Amino acid sequence: MDKEKIKQKLFTTIDGLKDKVIRVRRDIHKHPELSGHEEHTKYLVKGILEIEGYEIKEFEGHHGLLADLIVNPDKPFVAIRADMDALPIQEQTGKPYASEVKGVMHACGHDAHTAIAVGSALAMMQVKDQLPWNVRFIFQPSEEVNEGGASQMIEDGALEGVKAIFGLHVYPYLMTGQIGYKYGVMMASADTFEIEIFGKSAHGARPHEGVDAILVASMCVNSLNHIISRRIDPLHPAVISLGTIEGGTAPNVICDHVRLTGTVRTVNEGVRKKIPEMMEDAVKGNCHSMGANYNFHYNFGNPELINTDWAVDIIVQEAKKIVGEENVIDLKDPVMGGEDFSRYLQLVPGAFFRLGVCNPKKNTCVSQHHPKFDIDEDALPIGMKVLGAAAIEAMERLGEK
Ligand code: NI
Repeated sequence: MDKEKIKQKLFTTIDGLKDKVIRVRRDIHKHPELSGHEEHTKYLVKGILEIEGYEIKEFEGHHGLLADLIVNPDKPFVAIRADMDALPIQEQTGKPYASEVKGVMHACGHDAHTAIAVGSALAMMQVKDQLPWNVRFIFQPSEEVNEGGASQMIEDGALEGVKAIFGLHVYPYLMTGQIGYKYGVMMASADTFEIEIFGKSAHGARPHEGVDAILVASMCVNSLNHIISRRIDPLHPAVISLGTIEGGTAPNVICDHVRLTGTVRTVNEGVRKKIPEMMEDAVKGNCHSMGANYNFHYNFGNPELINTDWAVDIIVQEAKKIVGEENVIDLKDPVMGGEDFSRYLQLVPGAFFRLGVCNPKKNTCVSQHHPKFDIDEDALPIGMKVLGAAAIEAMERLGEK
């Protein structure tokens, strides 16, 4: 069968699966689980896919899952990845399928990602005999935390035999029926840091007998905020944001310890590598000038998400056929948010894209991580179709090489 006919069969199957996928999504939405606790979600996915003939692989120590559609054990895989975790947010949508877990909510749409991957897996099973390669569905835990689930899945062999990978994220800034793509860097690296300033305590009236950690910290805050504007090429966007500052015990005591934490975002690996040293220089210089000591700890989180050109070509080409040329949107600029799909893309080619879910009539245009965030479920089959078609195209393209 030619590949367009396989895709047509896949799309018809997907249309027939829509109600089931909505039910799966709502089940997950009602029972959200925080990063590292995705047990119910894992068993839900496993239960559905195992009956359909998927080979399921589970792991010690986390709730990730691999579901393999084996066409021929000697052939490679194309992978489709979904994340499963929710956020510590109290849902306020008032929808009938709202979270039943107090203080936990799928406010980033990972419930939709999981349901889309389940639906794609069910649909792919219907065209199994026509596929040249195997398909792997990666259901990963812990996307929302630094050092997240992608690293665990990779360590446990999720990419073994995988030649290309695709993933998506629901996106309330595009309308339902739209697909957003971006060549090259799509999302920023996301690192964190912690700085401790050690001064010397003294009576507030006798500052010369102490070392004021609050003053030194404020000098550091100033210097850190000058790094981006004065030391980084303005053509390379970067962010250094301080998120917390703690210190001091009483109004009349010179403070001897301040702790600062924050995040660093870049879209250029060269810039990213330089920033920790510049930050430590700033802290060191200020501490030295005032007789204070410091601890500087920089934690490299997810790298920049860099899409592979040919894989984006495939997304654009297939999306145009599915939603129409005018609905395939070039996102142009990267966003400074992070995403651990970047870790897979460091190792295998692939593409990440945005699935529009905004529908004002359904109140689904609220930003992610907001207590009123929700998606338009009419977008679910669109996501499944683009992922499925992209996987089939990638098999053909890589098979030719
Ligand atoms: Ni997310």
